[in-house]
Amino acid sequence: MSLKAAATAVRENAHAPYSNFKVGAAIRSASGQIYVGCNVENVAYPEGTCAEAGAIAAMVAAGETELAEVYVIADSPAPVPPCGGCRQKLKEFGAGGVKVTMGTTDGAERETTIGDLLPGAFDAGHMERS
Ligand code: THU
Repeated sequence: MSLKAAATAVRENAHAPYSNFKVGAAIRSASGQIYVGCNVENVAYPEGTCAEAGAIAAMVAAGETELAEVYVIADSPAPVPPCGGCRQKLKEFGAGGVKVTMGTTDGAERETTIGDLLPGAFDAGHMERS
């Protein structure tokens, strides 16, 4: 199955009664396995989680920690980029060159990379003292 098809399918399972904005994410890990996630909202709004976070959690729960490719899809007028928090989450598990494709249910797509989504990212080096 393609990443786009996987993201499109899991988007249907999103729990988004508050925003009515369903998002699906699919990631391919270094092993080639596909993991999926959807946004899961909560009546206590800040407790909601993004689609990307769900897909990353599924990958890590399966014992993998290396992203190879990412696809995110929503029913939006233009491809929606991952939120700031998800950019940091993607950066935790993916090199700067990892491709991130943002798609709409209308078929529009925009491609970027983890590095371009989060320039100047905070990383472990910033916690080191020389
Ligand atoms: N959302 C995601 O799941 N991923 C994104 O990249 C952007 C936003 C979700 C969070 C919330 O459930 C809804 O979209 C509206 O912000």
